[in-house]
Amino acid sequence: LVLVVDFGAQYAQLIARRVREAKVYSEIVPSSMPVEQMLARNPKAIILSGGPQSVYAEGAPRVDSALFEAGVPAFGICYGFQAMAQTLGGEVRRTGLREFGRTGVTVSNGGTLLSGIPLDLNVWMSHGDAVHSAPAGFDVLAASEGAPVAAFENLDRRLAGVQWHPEVLHSQAGQQVLEHFLYDIAGCTGDWTTANVVDEQVELIRQQVGDKQVLCALSGGVDSAVAAALVHKAIGDQLTCVYVDHGLQRAGESEQVEKDYVAATGIRLEVVDAEDQFLGALDGVTDPEQKRKIVGREFIRTFEATARKLDAERHIEFLVQGTLYPDVVESGGGTGTANIKSHHNVGGLPDDLQFALIEPLRTLFKDEVRELGLALGLPEAMVYRHPFPGPGLSIRIVGAVSKERLDILRAADLIVRNEITAAGLDRDIWQFPVVLLADVRSVGVQGDGRTYGHPIVLRPVTSEDAMTADWARLPYDVLEKISTRITNEVDEVNRVTLDITSKPPGTIEWE
Ligand code: XMP
Repeated sequence: LVLVVDFGAQYAQLIARRVREAKVYSEIVPSSMPVEQMLARNPKAIILSGGPQSVYAEGAPRVDSALFEAGVPAFGICYGFQAMAQTLGGEVRRTGLREFGRTGVTVSNGGTLLSGIPLDLNVWMSHGDAVHSAPAGFDVLAASEGAPVAAFENLDRRLAGVQWHPEVLHSQAGQQVLEHFLYDIAGCTGDWTTANVVDEQVELIRQQVGDKQVLCALSGGVDSAVAAALVHKAIGDQLTCVYVDHGLQRAGESEQVEKDYVAATGIRLEVVDAEDQFLGALDGVTDPEQKRKIVGREFIRTFEATARKLDAERHIEFLVQGTLYPDVVESGGGTGTANIKSHHNVGGLPDDLQFALIEPLRTLFKDEVRELGLALGLPEAMVYRHPFPGPGLSIRIVGAVSKERLDILRAADLIVRNEITAAGLDRDIWQFPVVLLADVRSVGVQGDGRTYGHPIVLRPVTSEDAMTADWARLPYDVLEKISTRITNEVDEVNRVTLDITSKPPGTIEWE
């Protein structure tokens, strides 16, 4: 275990991911955690992340010197580097030369940390303060114009640090620097693999569940599919999955869950056909928030009724949730060792229907979950599925939702998905909503006749996390093919438009 101490910037998660890419398991802890608690976790090494503050500013998070006296190898990055320098008696001050973005660093002495790394290094920096002199006993390895000491190490004490951000992709040799620290200075071994994660989780789930019965709601998305597959591997038929078919999925997606997924996993699946119920509840509703509320409410009603029925049959005690590590970190929760907590209102189930939670993906990042899915034999189309909103296609129809409109949208959406896959672009795009402007009509001409049909909006975006997004620059020939096919093959559509709005100001979905 490597602990990444979070000094309050966006970087800690990225650092933790890079450490795991080096096949060393890592977890994030807040900088407010007392050193004794960190040490109690028995970490092989500690990494101090970047952060937005000045080390000498009032209230800036400090590093307790006990951390460095404990003999645990430590690596400081940016703020963490400065905090380490300051705590150990080096000098940190404002240089007057702030470095943001791509910066040249000159390596004077590779030492162990920078061995085999180009002497002129292009890295990504973000700092206003700099280390002016290293603490006693440290070798200075590199400098930049704004950072007289840009990297140092003390091999006897197994401490090192860099001013730049080796975790970001723009930093040349970043992963190499991290691995030099992890393997060559801290003595970690890279043996954390997907196979180990599966084994470990299977064991944990068996211990938790014993011979009790477990329930899981499948949404068709990656997280619930992988979580359920993992639990199934551990306890087999003690798990029952529920899939609520609300009629708002894209073409083929229900079949993917009901057939491909079941074939790949052997999971016992209870399919609830609730299309009429959902479409009835949505009838005539045009307000986006109203649509969301209705779908959420109907989902809970349906799931609750099914859960009650199953509970009466076989007395269910646990519910599987596909919670991921970023949610855990962002909600301030530690990961601890237990992946079970009391169930407060999760999914909005009523008080008399409470289950304990099993969250087998609680320590994993999305890309790790995908790898796990592949290792568990899930279909690739499912593992690499783009994010899809809970309210489904109901919020991709601007206007009231009906079966007929859903079918139009499904036909157009399927063409888009097929063409994007054929062009090999699936993994270059974060998400590709296709939207039907059901209340808009425009005049067109097709063959010899005038048409008066609906527009389809293409909304392909690139993104890292859906918080911000940019419109995807798709090749014109792919767009042309999509446009031609949709207007030729989907009767009611006579116009295809492309949404070129970033987020912000636009959101990814139209509603
Ligand atoms: P927006 O449209 O807000 O979407 O830019 C950001 C991301 O969230 C997805 N999304 C939802 N996911 N339930 C969900 O599970 C929802 O109600 C919902 N609304 C939007 C959207 O697809 C995008 O990935």
